[in-house]
Amino acid sequence: MPPELVLGIESSCDETAAAVVAGGREVLSSIVDSQVAEHAAFGGVVPEIAGRSHLRAILPAIDRALAEAGVGLEDLAAVAVTSKPGLIGSLLVGLSAAKALAFARGLPLVCVDHVEAHVYAATMDQATPRYPALALVVSGGHTGLYRADSALEIRPLVGTIDDAAGEAFDKVAWILGLEYPGGPSVSRLAAAGDPRAIAFPRSRVKAADGDLPPFSFSGLKTAVLYHVRGQDALAPTPPPAEIADRADVAASFQEAVVDALVVPTIATARKLELDQVLVAGGVACNRRLRERMQAAAAEAGLACHFPAPAYCTDNAAMIAGQGFHLLAAGRVSDLHADASPR
Ligand code: KG4
Ligand code: ZN
Repeated sequence: MPPELVLGIESSCDETAAAVVAGGREVLSSIVDSQVAEHAAFGGVVPEIAGRSHLRAILPAIDRALAEAGVGLEDLAAVAVTSKPGLIGSLLVGLSAAKALAFARGLPLVCVDHVEAHVYAATMDQATPRYPALALVVSGGHTGLYRADSALEIRPLVGTIDDAAGEAFDKVAWILGLEYPGGPSVSRLAAAGDPRAIAFPRSRVKAADGDLPPFSFSGLKTAVLYHVRGQDALAPTPPPAEIADRADVAASFQEAVVDALVVPTIATARKLELDQVLVAGGVACNRRLRERMQAAAAEAGLACHFPAPAYCTDNAAMIAGQGFHLLAAGRVSDLHADASPR
């Protein structure tokens, strides 16, 4: 029997994506229509713009995914769609499209958790993923550690008490007068700076005995703001040309984020005796994070795996992949399924 084909649909934030994946692993097509240009002027995602843009882009993305995979709706075993978490108006666009296809074609509808799909993305290119694993999901909307015992058993361990790491990159880009999204623009500038030039704080949030300390990035972001604008931070952000040490700020900020991610991830893997580390989400594209996490994991005797950059940022291949496993486990939804922001 040929491997089952699943159509994945993703619209939780600012990428409209559709993909066809065979057997949960083989990506036949992966279309990502990014709205970045529409949100750039605002320095972040504007929910109203995102919802409207998904409406325009969703059907063309699905058509292209099917065409590039060379398959028709009649070849599919199921439609998988992100139903949570994300922007509610955006989620509803993808979910409604998926329900319409499922109803019209009598296909099973599979609802997928976006964060669990990010974790799955880090195993998709491995023939036999090894479990249990510790997964770090770092994106614009999420930063947290998860314990993965299989593709379907993913348990949150600890999250952030304020900003997500990607959100911190986006805000610091705005402070430095760099373009949105901030991750790529800050890391490009950081390559020309000294990561030890400025000693930005490494957050140390206290946790109750035995609990894992949560992540926190808002103090770091504020420290960058004060450094650039002065302690009172009342002055408007100076024009980029007047921030003399811009590259050093970018490099030192990036180093602080990387420390704040690498140190607790390795410590948690050791504490929980998990010898596999998976890293996923948009920030997992960051070169410095990839180098430092790989080096720290190797030193601690842990295996460490990052997806290819195209599968770190939001995509629908990870939704189809995770959907394949949910389908196999019989975890199918009915047409009353709802979207949820959390
Ligand atoms: O996973 P993703 O596409 O969307 C969410 O689920 O949030 O992640 C987007 C985030 C943005 O905040 C972006 O600035 C960040 O990932 N990002 C990066 C890099 N590339 C994207 N952050 C740091 N370094 C990068 N190279
Ligand atoms: Zn995401």
